[in-house]
Amino acid sequence: MATRILGTGSAMPERIVTNKDIEGFLDTSDEWIRERTGIGSRHIAITETTTSLAAEACRKALEDAGKKPEDVDLIIAATVSPDYTFPCLACQIQAEIGAENATAYDINAACAGFLFALNSATAYIECGMYKNALIVGAEVLSKIVDWNDRTSCILFGDGAGAAFIGEAEEGVVAMEQGANGSKGMVLFRHETPVQNPFCEGGQSAEHQGSSFLEMNGQEVFRFAVSQVPESIQKVLVKAGWEISDVDHFVLHQANARIIHTIAKRLGEPEEKFPMNIERYGNMSSACIPVLLDELNKSGQLKRGEKLVLSGFGAGLTYGATAIIW
Ligand code: ACO
Repeated sequence: MATRILGTGSAMPERIVTNKDIEGFLDTSDEWIRERTGIGSRHIAITETTTSLAAEACRKALEDAGKKPEDVDLIIAATVSPDYTFPCLACQIQAEIGAENATAYDINAACAGFLFALNSATAYIECGMYKNALIVGAEVLSKIVDWNDRTSCILFGDGAGAAFIGEAEEGVVAMEQGANGSKGMVLFRHETPVQNPFCEGGQSAEHQGSSFLEMNGQEVFRFAVSQVPESIQKVLVKAGWEISDVDHFVLHQANARIIHTIAKRLGEPEEKFPMNIERYGNMSSACIPVLLDELNKSGQLKRGEKLVLSGFGAGLTYGATAIIW
């Protein structure tokens, strides 16, 4: 018995923000952004929330799988930009879609979050604890990005993707994941400071700290282009596959240059590395499920083909999963 992706769905905010739109308020250019990142535009939430996007993606994944909300056993949501710290996003989704029989919780593994959610849910299903799961990556990063920082804000977008997974003859073949917490501060969101009436200076409204994300782009770049090929090689060994057996590598969409470099290091043709970063930017945990949904719905994935998914992100976290589609 294996665990298979039985349906996918995605949801985007309506508003599209182009590089030209950002030129209007920042010292940057469409040319610089395209050349350094491969990004042309991104969707940005105006009325949408992390919950509304996630719930829409989940409804579509259930519809694609031919399932009803009450069929769902488990919801795992991966996000670094939930609407509330608590209740968690997964519980919000449960309420929104009416998945009353599910248990629900969030994980935070940043851009590797969807992959970690998939691996966790697969482990539950394979040990017999649950029969199926809805896994979701959903972000409204526009609310935690510093729109005055041209080195980071141009990279990110908002969106959500989901997959319904369940028992099947074949599906997930091997999983590989890891973390390097000692490098955590190359990409972080500012901490919530300890402040209470017992601290020196007491609890003041001014002492809130910044809530924006901050990134050392070049360190992230170096981490991605070395760690991802290694994770992929490891998962291939676990799966017993040759790299040439793989039909598609579905990678986290952080930067087109990162993906080109990884393809080169693996010695595989770029056509095997589908990309949608030009239209969406980096949506953190939502990148992989949104790309999977697009590939699925456009018929680019054939049942029985071999896929490797790979995510990497803040933490630092990384992983790869080998799947028979
Ligand atoms: N527009 C114009 N100029 C810019 C911009 C901008 N948006 N951003 C930076 N610059 C300037 C810098 O100020 C610098 O100018 P200087 O030479 O006068 O000092 C110059 O461009 C070069 O800056 P670098 O930081 O060296 O640019 P680099 O080639 O490293 O590109 C980038 C920056 C795109 C962030 C790159 O490092 C990168 O892609 N890193 C990966 C980061 C990433 O993918 N993060 C995603 C989040 S993490 C994740 O998803 C895993």
